[in-house]
Amino acid sequence: MAFHLSFLLILTGLTGIHSITTVSEVSVKAGDSITIPCLYDSQYINHVKFLCEGYYWSSCSYAAKTNQPSSGKFSISDDKNQRIFTVTIKDLTDKDTDYWCAVEIDRGPDVREYFLLSVTEGTPRLYVDHQEITGFIGQNITISCQYSNSGEVRWCRLGSSCVRRPLGLIDGTRVTINTSVPNVFTVTMSGLRTESSGWYWCATGDLQMPVHVTVEKHTPTDQTPTTVQSQRLSVPVDLKYLIIPLSVLIFFVIVTLVMWFMLKRHKKTKAESSATALAEEEVTYSTVKKKRKTPRQRSDADIDVIYSSVVIVEQQNVQRVEAKAEDVTYSRLAQHHQNL
Ligand SMILES: *[C@@H]1O[C@H](CO)[C@@H](O)[C@H](O)[C@H]1NC(C)=O
Repeated sequence: MAFHLSFLLILTGLTGIHSITTVSEVSVKAGDSITIPCLYDSQYINHVKFLCEGYYWSSCSYAAKTNQPSSGKFSISDDKNQRIFTVTIKDLTDKDTDYWCAVEIDRGPDVREYFLLSVTEGTPRLYVDHQEITGFIGQNITISCQYSNSGEVRWCRLGSSCVRRPLGLIDGTRVTINTSVPNVFTVTMSGLRTESSGWYWCATGDLQMPVHVTVEKHTPTDQTPTTVQSQRLSVPVDLKYLIIPLSVLIFFVIVTLVMWFMLKRHKKTKAESSATALAEEEVTYSTVKKKRKTPRQRSDADIDVIYSSVVIVEQQNVQRVEAKAEDVTYSRLAQHHQNL
């Protein structure tokens, strides 16, 4: 039954019974602005479009017209290629509620569609941070729709289809809806194409919030070289993107080198000090030996030690001999140990 109903709806849409398609209800905050898109049938491309204000069509008044300069509060623009005219209403008050998107017909009744603005003092029941979002060909965009009302969440394209959780396709573009965060649903459109540009809306329950998606052609990471020439052209761009990782790499190499050098020095100092300690032991040893043989005075022991150091003095410069006997002994022994 549902299938038949939707089929009928599509059929009526195609046959032009609903010549204008727009949102039905939008929640807005007082003081803010809102832009509403209205899609019209191709037969009306060259007709005058207008926004009419008032609950009843018979008594509504012109707010903006495409063949007239727009006033401060209302503005209207017509994109004949997309067959969409947009109306913008600024400085919203609680009186700005009932509107009609309309197409003027010279002989016969005008074509129109009603929409309701539900103006709130606080946070709107369904809103987005920006009604305009830009993406690049081949990449993704994510739209966060924040809501506080209940009902099924949807992402719809004006004049096309809707996607429900968790995923679906709109005109060949993959749409994923994530509702893991309470009161927010995020819509991700992946693999954007030029044709993905246009008007969409977030929907929860009876509310909609229009969002305009613009897909731009040239991006730095758009790597779809068709010819050798375009590949060559992309080289400077690639280099530009290499600078940051390259400088990071150089920085780490320098840091590693400095650390390695310091570690090496530390090890060397350690080895030297242990060698000195060893040398000290040796010295003590020989001194003890001497002491065992003939318990002599300290000055004699010094002479014994100087003996062994004399060998090294031959290898090294003589200046050190002038230093204190003890110091000389240790350092020379350390050197000696190393040379072994
Ligand atoms: C939904 O979003 C949350 C975080 O925002 C993430 O952890 C989770 O994996 C997403 N789920 C899907 C199905 O992508």
